[in-house]
Amino acid sequence: MTDNTIIIIGAGGSIANAFLREQHNRFPAHNLITISRNVHDKIADNHQHFQCDNSEQQIQAVTQSLSTVVKTAQSITVFNGQLHNEAFSPEKRLEDINEHYLSWILKANTITPMLWLKYIGQRLGPKSRCVITFLSARVASIDDNELGGWYAYRASKAALNMAVKTASIELARRAKYCKCVLFHPGTTDTNLSKPFQKNVPEGKLFTPNFVAQQLSTLITTRDINGQVDYIDWQGKAINW
Ligand SMILES: NC(=O)c1ccc[n+]([C@@H]2O[C@H](COP(=O)([O-])OP(=O)(O)OC[C@H]3O[C@@H](n4cnc5c(N)ncnc54)[C@H](OP(=O)(O)O)[C@@H]3O)[C@@H](O)[C@H]2O)c1
Repeated sequence: MTDNTIIIIGAGGSIANAFLREQHNRFPAHNLITISRNVHDKIADNHQHFQCDNSEQQIQAVTQSLSTVVKTAQSITVFNGQLHNEAFSPEKRLEDINEHYLSWILKANTITPMLWLKYIGQRLGPKSRCVITFLSARVASIDDNELGGWYAYRASKAALNMAVKTASIELARRAKYCKCVLFHPGTTDTNLSKPFQKNVPEGKLFTPNFVAQQLSTLITTRDINGQVDYIDWQGKAINW
């Protein structure tokens, strides 16, 4: 089997787009497959795009049509995640917890990635050699939570971390050359972080290109050891 396919899910985001271009520069002959809720410009002849509304039915249909390439993919990276919208911002105190915001965040940050994990995971086998990465966040660390607030976002990413950790135990048995990674990009200049950038220390607001390069290097140098790595943009382990 050849592992020459790169799959990018949630490809419409800023970090995802930078990562797509970075991967193409690094592996120009590799097949690129992107998946997003929206249309996406083709960046090369070997780039194929799929639209998906992230319903279970469509996720199942897309992974079904990609069955063979998923089995032989070199990397699968899931970027989906949200933080704020026109109606809601992260909670500052208990009184701000809101059912609609919680449901929206949990769907985007936990349920959508878990459904991708479900349909991708069952297609990986003993011959697959793949790094499967999910964009997590340092604020998902229970150990590291000293500031409080951001209930929904923290909980949704912590739940994602637990799901990926659980899947890595199963994958170690059924696809032992596959590796799961939970990646914290650091505060990156995208729509998601825009409203929260003013207190970021100088030099600590990263460009999507910088983060894409770090992520690329980190996933191509991972030790395939049946463990999930929860790491930041420098490759440093984050406490759970
Ligand atoms: N920027 C930061 O400072 C920062 C820090 C820590 C962690 N992260 C994480 O990094 C990832 C990428 O974020 P970004 O900074 O590049 O932000 P972005 O440009 O706003 O990208 C948002 C991502 O979420 C997906 N998305 C948007 N709405 C969605 C919905 N309703 N349901 C499911 N998916 C949805 C998008 O996919 P499509 O539009 O292609 O479907 C895209 O992959 C997120 O998981 C985020 O939590 C970012």
